[in-house]
Amino acid sequence: MLLGVLLACVVGAAVLYALFFWLIPAAVQHNAWAALLWHDVIVERFLDFVTSSTRPQRLLKAVQKKAIRGDPQSVISTIDNFCRSSEWAMNVGDEKGTILDSVVCEVSPGSALELGTYCGYSTVRIARLLPPGTKLITVEFNPDFAKVARQVIEFAGLQDKVLLVEGPSGDLIPKMRDQFGITTFDLVFLDHWKDRYLPDTKLLEECGLLQKGSVLLADNVICPGTPEYLAYVRSSPKYDSKYFKSHLEYTKVEDGLEKSIFLG
Ligand SMILES: C[S@@+](CC[C@H](N)C(=O)[O-])C[C@H]1O[C@@H](n2cnc3c(N)ncnc32)[C@H](O)[C@@H]1O
Repeated sequence: MLLGVLLACVVGAAVLYALFFWLIPAAVQHNAWAALLWHDVIVERFLDFVTSSTRPQRLLKAVQKKAIRGDPQSVISTIDNFCRSSEWAMNVGDEKGTILDSVVCEVSPGSALELGTYCGYSTVRIARLLPPGTKLITVEFNPDFAKVARQVIEFAGLQDKVLLVEGPSGDLIPKMRDQFGITTFDLVFLDHWKDRYLPDTKLLEECGLLQKGSVLLADNVICPGTPEYLAYVRSSPKYDSKYFKSHLEYTKVEDGLEKSIFLG
């Protein structure tokens, strides 16, 4: 009798494990809203509850345990492994990350801005490729995410290449000149909440923070999607815009990056 109950518990646990970590993740791989609902709502809330921690805290723990201190590439690979094998997270990810890398290398910016830091994954990706002397300003309004990002950036050894500023982008962009001595940005990576892409782009223009040749690179233009922003940069004579097709981080759902060169 006892053996039967024990066996039923083991089989039940195995079925639940397979469902949670294998069958459902595989089933939602191709559907945008199912994937986001599963990974970003159901699994995150469940794991937050059972572990009494947050996803950024768990991601940081993985970095501290498995990555090599002072080695940005190992921090990036550790986060990608964590997101593929344990928990999805809203980083730009490895696939779109290679497109981001190539744009950073091509622009080789003297000044760079990132909107939306989260845990610092893309910050590390960008900062490791910056030319000597260039500092990346990254903006994050969630203090808990900013706290984790600082530790990830420091673990990667890139604290001298990054200035993490806490606050809403809409308040900080107009202060870039006076508070941070920025004249214009050569590269802006937009990866914050999607409804801010268009107003913040217009704000960057109004504040004179873009010059001829400045590059805007926008993530998630298909999933979750930024239709107003896309319509603007694709139709405005002020931009030469190009889409780079890829996939939503760590899934097979279509997503991509839009690279828009400011023409002045
Ligand atoms: C998709 S995540 C960024 C992912 C990160 N760029 C990466 O690839 O590793 C979006 C982040 O933007 C932040 N955010 C959203 N809207 C913002 C705003 N208006 N100002 C500052 N941060 C914002 C959110 O708190 C969140 O951490």
